[in-house]
Amino acid sequence: MTARRLAGVEKSAIRQFFDRAPAGSINLGLGEPDLPTPDVVRQAAVRAILEERNGYTPHAGLPALRERIAGDYGTTPESVIVTAGSQEALYLAITTLVDEGDEVLVPNPGFVAYPVIVRMAGGRPVPYGLPAAQDFGFDLDLFRRALTPRTKVVVCISPSNPTGRVLSENDLKMMAAALAGTGVTVVSDEIYRDLYFGDARPASIAQLYPETVVVSGLSKSMSMTGWRLGWLCGPAEVTNSAVVLHGYVTTCASAISQKAALAAWTSEAHAARREMRRTFRARRDCLLRLAAMHGLRAVPPEGAFYAMVDVAPWGSSLAVAEAALEQRVITVPGGAFGSEAERFLRLSFCVDEETLTEGMRRVARALAQLKPLEEQPV
Ligand SMILES: Cc1ncc(COP(=O)(O)O)c(C=O)c1O
Repeated sequence: MTARRLAGVEKSAIRQFFDRAPAGSINLGLGEPDLPTPDVVRQAAVRAILEERNGYTPHAGLPALRERIAGDYGTTPESVIVTAGSQEALYLAITTLVDEGDEVLVPNPGFVAYPVIVRMAGGRPVPYGLPAAQDFGFDLDLFRRALTPRTKVVVCISPSNPTGRVLSENDLKMMAAALAGTGVTVVSDEIYRDLYFGDARPASIAQLYPETVVVSGLSKSMSMTGWRLGWLCGPAEVTNSAVVLHGYVTTCASAISQKAALAAWTSEAHAARREMRRTFRARRDCLLRLAAMHGLRAVPPEGAFYAMVDVAPWGSSLAVAEAALEQRVITVPGGAFGSEAERFLRLSFCVDEETLTEGMRRVARALAQLKPLEEQPV
């Protein structure tokens, strides 16, 4: 009865594991910050509800909000569409750019939604490897090999979900140079760009390659997942079409969330971002210490709130994630993100350090039951 286009489109592995978790499970699965939304944003939402009429806003979003977002990218408000989360922005960008049969390069490993949205748009997802053997870093040769005359769009993400790795400015320069003159559009997923652990905010390919559509929002950096506030920022040719589609699909992002989002550019909100970075950096360090203590190798993340833990000696990532679930800890099998991550578990650290410590203890217990460490090949 349903459209052929949707055949094989299933609930993501992330959701499947979450939905099957027994009571009392520790959640190292979902990528959803547990920290409170900054007070300045919540107060702005309360004011908007109590004092204002919240009708439809212009399809593209409140002019004042578009102006603030555009300011971050050094562009004009006309380049910005405010969306219901960055997920909608991603959907709009790909649907606007991709024709039947077009190839779209997606990172392997990468966010589970990319290949699904590409297929729904009629395109063909083509993975470019970020090799596990290189700790999921950018590999120019593999990128060049995936690129063909049929490539229409390249999706990149930094910091990455699922690895937390950042594309360095040099990586982005190499990517931009490989794409120069091809007419390919880059869709740059920057939803984690404000959650970094180094000294400086990671670079964006938009600074190096003009044919870039940035997809981002406040879900992760402002702990606003349920507020559904994201955006798309790119060349007028793309946004002029995407806004029409957006109007038919959602009309506009929530008026209340948009008004509250204006507060995300205040000094209080900037202070809250710094505090969130500090918290996630401390948890990242805690997770790396715990992994080492349990004899596990983790790839050190440089941003976001995920870490990839190598479980190769214990079998497939799916079998290990199942065993972990039996021990009441939710994780995500790396294989869900692409073949390069098949021998890894993705652990998110959206829990306090005490919970993280217990969660890692349960992961270690699951591994010990699968195959005691003494029996591991040396
Ligand atoms: C890489 C990536 N992009 C986009 C999204 C969508 O986030 P939202 O729609 O809440 O902005 C997520 C959410 O998990 C994500 O991990």
